Amino acid sequence: MEEKKFTILDFKRKKDSGEKITMLTAYDFAIASIIEGIGVDSILVGDSLGMVVLGRDSTVSVTMDEMIHHTKAVRSGVKRAFLIADMPFMSFQVNDEEAVRNAGRFVKEAGCDAVKIEGGREVVSRVEAINKAGIAVMGHIGLTPQSTSKLGGYRVQGKNEVSASRLAEDAVLLEKAGCFAIVLECLPADLAKKVTLKAGIPIIGCGAGPYCDGQVLVTYDMLGLFSRFKPKFVKQYADLTCIIGDAVRTYVDETKRGVFPDKDHSF
Ligand code: KIV
Repeated sequence: MEEKKFTILDFKRKKDSGEKITMLTAYDFAIASIIEGIGVDSILVGDSLGMVVLGRDSTVSVTMDEMIHHTKAVRSGVKRAFLIADMPFMSFQVNDEEAVRNAGRFVKEAGCDAVKIEGGREVVSRVEAINKAGIAVMGHIGLTPQSTSKLGGYRVQGKNEVSASRLAEDAVLLEKAGCFAIVLECLPADLAKKVTLKAGIPIIGCGAGPYCDGQVLVTYDMLGLFSRFKPKFVKQYADLTCIIGDAVRTYVDETKRGVFPDKDHSF
């Protein structure tokens, strides 16, 4: 029997019951199928794509077409999990109309369940406009990688009183604007706890401590597939770089020695 689809209502149900929400990123069919098969609640096609898959220095150059291409691949492997696509830099910043048009592309062309948008008070009208078009929106505040030039780099946010209360206010504004959930990235655990307790919608932590309603990690980080740098909050659950390296080394060695292909792998 097919497992029941995780919907926006399940996000709220889990928040209310205190059950933790699980979310991971994916960028292709193979990894998305594995994550879906394990029963992860939600899959995010993050614009982290630019760094971990496309090998760029930041996320800002990721385009709508690249996001749509990868989201379609992920969609092919995901039937049950709630699929969210990240709106890339400059796909929503200019005005509400462009934001709605691009959010609509994710739903129409790539079959997404929702979109994620970075920013606080400055994106409230975007969230409202996308919502009005019938598309669910997840917010993202704290360390927002699309604006690291303004933030002065990849650094923990909300460390002083002014910045902490601004972030707490942003969460309230995003909830009022209609976000169904908010990602908090790189915040002190106590601030994330306050935001989580106050919010009526699920708060998903990414480097925001244990008190959030759920957690999201970049899958390539937690699997040890991205070694350029490792944020402190990432727990590495596997070392796939090592596993893949061993397999490739063995293949090269066996091919050179004529051990592969053997009878079992020939016609
Ligand atoms: O792009 C991404 O993968 C993200 C998550 C880290 C939340 O925004």
